[in-house]
Amino acid sequence: MTRTRFDFRQVLRAGTLLLGGLSALFLTGCEKVQKVFSLSGPQTTIVTEGPVAKAQYDVFMVTVWVTMFIFVVVGAVLAYAQIKFRAKTAADEHAEPPEQSHGNPLIEIGLIVASVALLVIIAIPTLKNIWYTHDVPEEERANAMDVTATGYQWWFKFEYNQEMMPLPTGGEAPLVTGNELVVPAGVPVRVHLRTIDVIHSFWIPKLAGKVDMIPNRANFLWFKADKPGYYYGQCAEYCGESHAIMRFRVIALSPSEYVKWLDNQKAAARTATAATIRRDDEQTLRVQFASFPDTGPGSTLAASGNFDADPLGAWKAKQLPEPGENAALIAEGRRLFKEKTCISCHTVRGHEGVGITGPDLTHVGSRSTIAAGVLENTPERMFQWIKDPEYFKPGNKMYHGGYVDTTTGKPLFTLSDDETKALVAYLLSLK
Ligand code: CUA
Repeated sequence: MTRTRFDFRQVLRAGTLLLGGLSALFLTGCEKVQKVFSLSGPQTTIVTEGPVAKAQYDVFMVTVWVTMFIFVVVGAVLAYAQIKFRAKTAADEHAEPPEQSHGNPLIEIGLIVASVALLVIIAIPTLKNIWYTHDVPEEERANAMDVTATGYQWWFKFEYNQEMMPLPTGGEAPLVTGNELVVPAGVPVRVHLRTIDVIHSFWIPKLAGKVDMIPNRANFLWFKADKPGYYYGQCAEYCGESHAIMRFRVIALSPSEYVKWLDNQKAAARTATAATIRRDDEQTLRVQFASFPDTGPGSTLAASGNFDADPLGAWKAKQLPEPGENAALIAEGRRLFKEKTCISCHTVRGHEGVGITGPDLTHVGSRSTIAAGVLENTPERMFQWIKDPEYFKPGNKMYHGGYVDTTTGKPLFTLSDDETKALVAYLLSLK
């Protein structure tokens, strides 16, 4: 019988070097490697853009290095024993086992001390960062802003607790938005986490996360965006059939842009009249959205190319009125919004809506996404969403209980294509 002769020591050395090198490349910020392995995607926790996510990443890295050290040491000892004491000859294979020993106080105490030391190395940054990520640091607290995020099956409501708005019935309530949380960059944001139904979890991978939204429990977290940007958020706790598509966005703006945005949000819903319509493209004025490109609801859910290349730019473009608005069509949409009972679940502040079951739509036209971060906010997608919300978000309340009677399964109302187009024109005019 012939034996293949490996130099095991060389293989071991090469393997350790390769593993160590690759891990170091993966985790220590080599941008090219991160791109190739998609570690810098929109929901990465490896490329952080705020101090809370950075602190969480740092703790993770300490654990990675300590466990990698243990892996290499234990692996090396194991490999050494395998090579050194392997059966080299036929006689070895039939030899008596060497004398067995039980217990070596020096080695055992040494292992206990080493294990404790490694746990202490992990514990120090862990405790430090539990403290740090718990709440806005004392010295920044005066500057912090407070937002309440409430999870619904399956979308997020955001309330700006320091921006009180008068209610039509008297009294006041915080400014409300849905699914897109706009904040100033560089300012700490304390997010109070609530839920209206089941347990959800609030997670913005590049900024902070994740903390559960639990019924009857007041949780909170804080985050800060280092610079203006467009950040992806996600419910991170299974909460029903559309959990995976319960998303949101955080848009961090420069302080001056934020103030401008806030002023506009506080204003009542825009009313597009012939006088307020964008004049720069008058020649394109037509029956708005008369024809859509051929994108059936079955086609890809991916965003358009422009959007993926520069989401913050795309968001900013959404703040402007749509080109080619048709005042008559918009007025028809506003009438249908009432007639088709949209108003009973959605609020359009300053217009007819008063509902609080669904997201506040006062400025829905200025959001970059609809259906809780699932679809890009384009006329085509809004049309498809209104026509068949059940297709995009199974189990949602807009369909069940809004469009169909849940007990009989019979439709409560119908929407023709033309009616839907009018609704789309109206909703997208709400900038
Ligand atoms: Cu909400 Cu998962």
